[in-house]
Amino acid sequence: MTTPALALEGVNTFYGPSHILFDLGLTVGEGTVTCLLGRNGAGKTTAIRTIMGLTPPRSGAITFRGERISGLRPWQIFRRGIKLVPQGRGIFPPLSVEENLRLALLRAEAPEPAAELEKVYALFPVLAERRRQRGQTLSGGELQMLAIARALLGRTGLILMDEPTEGLAPLVVRTIQETLHRIKREGATVLLAEQNARMALDVGDWHHIIDDGRIRFSGDSRSILGNDEIMTQYLGVSPR
Ligand SMILES: Nc1ncnc2c1ncn2[C@@H]1O[C@H](COP(=O)(O)OP(=O)(O)OP(=O)(O)O)[C@@H](O)[C@H]1O
Ligand SMILES: [Mg+2]
Repeated sequence: MTTPALALEGVNTFYGPSHILFDLGLTVGEGTVTCLLGRNGAGKTTAIRTIMGLTPPRSGAITFRGERISGLRPWQIFRRGIKLVPQGRGIFPPLSVEENLRLALLRAEAPEPAAELEKVYALFPVLAERRRQRGQTLSGGELQMLAIARALLGRTGLILMDEPTEGLAPLVVRTIQETLHRIKREGATVLLAEQNARMALDVGDWHHIIDDGRIRFSGDSRSILGNDEIMTQYLGVSPR
């Protein structure tokens, strides 16, 4: 088997005295969209914060392309090419689309900023149209696209996406879903935390089901769709 892009092994994470993630083990294959699926409070955001070094694990190992990243600071992890699209998106509302992108470009230390901007504008034409519009005036779907575009600037080895479809209308969810298919075709590696099982099972190659801070099941879309127990117990989808 080839080395996965990302691997977690025996990861335990705490908020103060509260034990949140229990011996978490998961992998993200290079060039795949891998999903972390679970309900509210299951531990998805905590897992993503743990990978990014924002809430470092108390024990266990996290490796990226075979090198250990657990114990590194968030900015060091970012420099390895791991980019976070946070839940709630983290766009600066008073700044324009382009200013938000340029700010991210500075941090990404891209050698050719103009080419990077063109790259994401080509991927998201709606952002090109709205380049002078302030963040606060964008729709939920446009904001999410801006957040994803930001993560694609510069050298990106892995994108951590935390519930990109949260609070979006079904039509906008479709747009984000198509966006994910597109960046997947471009060869991106993505770890996608989601509650929206339908969308995750469509776009994802592989899935880890998390509940109560523990991985309950790992498999491909077919193996999950065919498992009524997982669908109902962990994903809140009623049986067909
Ligand atoms: N800063 C914190 N301090 C203490 N406990 C926290 C903190 N943040 C989250 N938790 C707890 O950790 C558990 C996992 O939360 P987490 O935010 O990782 O869940 P989630 O799967 O991302 O949920 P959601 O789908 O609602 O975003 C929850 O029980 C939550 O109450
Ligand atoms: Mg969350």
